[in-house]
Amino acid sequence: MQYKALYRENRPEVFSEMLGQEHIVKILRHQIATDTVSHAYLFCGTRGTGKTTTARILAKALNCIGDTEDKPCGTCPHCRAIAESNFIDVIEIDAASNNGVDNIRELRESVKYPPSVGRKKVYIIDEVHMLSTGAFNALLKTLEEPPENVVFILATTNPEKMPQTVLSRCMRLDFKRVSAAEIKENMRRIAQAHGVEITESALALLAANADGSVRDSLSILEQCLSSGETRLDRETVLDFLGVVSEDFYLELTDDVLAADVSGALVLLDQALNEGKDVRQMMKDWMAHYRSLLIAKFVENPEDMLNMSSENIEKLKEQSRRIELPDLNRSIVTLARTINDARYSTQARILMEVAVVTIASGLSYGEEEAPRQAAPVRRPAPRQPAPRREAPAPRQAAPQQAPAQAQQAPPPWDADRPVPQPDAPGVQAPAEPPVQQAPPQTPAQGDDLAQIWEDVMEDAIESKPQMSMMRGAHLAAMNEKEFKLVVESDFMKMMLEREADLLCSLMEKRTGTWRKMVCRLDGEKEEESRESELARIAEEASAVLGTTVRIK
Ligand SMILES: Nc1ncnc2c1ncn2[C@@H]1O[C@H](COP(=O)(O)OP(=O)(O)OP(=O)(O)O)[C@@H](O)[C@H]1O
Ligand SMILES: [Mg+2]
Ligand SMILES: [Zn+2]
Repeated sequence: MQYKALYRENRPEVFSEMLGQEHIVKILRHQIATDTVSHAYLFCGTRGTGKTTTARILAKALNCIGDTEDKPCGTCPHCRAIAESNFIDVIEIDAASNNGVDNIRELRESVKYPPSVGRKKVYIIDEVHMLSTGAFNALLKTLEEPPENVVFILATTNPEKMPQTVLSRCMRLDFKRVSAAEIKENMRRIAQAHGVEITESALALLAANADGSVRDSLSILEQCLSSGETRLDRETVLDFLGVVSEDFYLELTDDVLAADVSGALVLLDQALNEGKDVRQMMKDWMAHYRSLLIAKFVENPEDMLNMSSENIEKLKEQSRRIELPDLNRSIVTLARTINDARYSTQARILMEVAVVTIASGLSYGEEEAPRQAAPVRRPAPRQPAPRREAPAPRQAAPQQAPAQAQQAPPPWDADRPVPQPDAPGVQAPAEPPVQQAPPQTPAQGDDLAQIWEDVMEDAIESKPQMSMMRGAHLAAMNEKEFKLVVESDFMKMMLEREADLLCSLMEKRTGTWRKMVCRLDGEKEEESRESELARIAEEASAVLGTTVRIK
């Protein structure tokens, strides 16, 4: 028997087999039934949530010759050929490896010919954000004058990397993470079919690990099934994954909240002795803080956290005991620790320092030795080079920064490039000239205020939770950018998460697409630090799955 990976073996062939994505299935079914299919679709969303699968199902529906009511039937010769990637009128292109203008020119040539056997020619372009600019332009021409009988399905995990011109010509469908409940049910069914019993808590753990990606859930399940065990419980799965359970991070965070440094270090020591990976633990702990942030500020965190309801309750409880500045501080400390650990052979010591730093209410890089930290040796600087103070004293926004940060500006790490005070761009921020709108010039200020008010109105209409962002204001706007000023890091983070929406609403309101720039109120940024911080923020963003800006 030919071996098939679990996720291939379990690829939905028809709409009814899809997990989640009901909103998308509903739209597509309706369009097929009423023959109102679009010329171009953009399927966006997290990896492994069904974009390629849905593209194929749609391609089948458009070419199905079965006589079922609900198309596609999945069993007629056309449907079967498409499932086997053997159908001449369904063309799949992986833009990651065919990203040049020539590839798209070739495509434009072939688009001219009508379908050979099917009703519609379907082009599925996967990872479409990888196309070169030239290729995008070439594609745009085709999308502008779509030939009859041709349907484009573009799929991407990174819609923000797509040019606006292409976005505006596609019907965009956003694939959501699949709920833990559905992922669990699916795994339970598959395990059963393989004659393996799997406990509820093992399923919950696997589902939490998959974080909404069905493909990931099947890959992990496959590894577990291949162990040959006939019964999988939480402990087996834990061992198998080499992950540390959520409980561990709840407890670790409890210890640091109680300033119990020794308790936290002992806990860490135990986990490390069990062979857990310290770099992974840093990331997971940071992810835990992200969950706390969500649990603290989002009304129904269940939708955003793929976690058992039991763990969500514990998270909520913990989040009530932690203040926003502390969350901020801890996330920043961990983000920088993760960054440092990449280049260090002393990851364990760095993690221990992070524990001590967080537990002592300090921020990364603060020199004051915490009293409780007596048993821990702080690592010696990795290079003999003396630490240098930042060129200008940092001016922290008084209400946001923890008290200590104001007294002691974080020194530059010896390992990091220290910006030269006389280097170009350090003193003069390399920002495009911005039409400043101080409140003293009422006319302009009023214009901006009006624009922002209109945009917020639209934003709230499409996402009620945007009403939280009312505290932000539109401070300036030039040809390329609009600049928002916000009151807190949290609001900044939330706004940046919605950058796509806000940019398009601003475009709708002003007629021009501009990039969004967000600044903290009263922030006198040190531009020289920005690129360094941006790099760390990017790192943090990758781990948290959300946009992180470090002040
Ligand atoms: N919504 C879903 N319902 C059922 N199975 C799914 C779903 N999403 C993904 N899968 C499973 O995961 C596999 C991969 O899915 P698919 O290729 O459609 O994901 P994708 O969204 O295109 O991911 P990527 O972004 O990595 O290309 C499928 O073969 C199927 O087994
Ligand atoms: Mg795909
Ligand atoms: Zn069919």
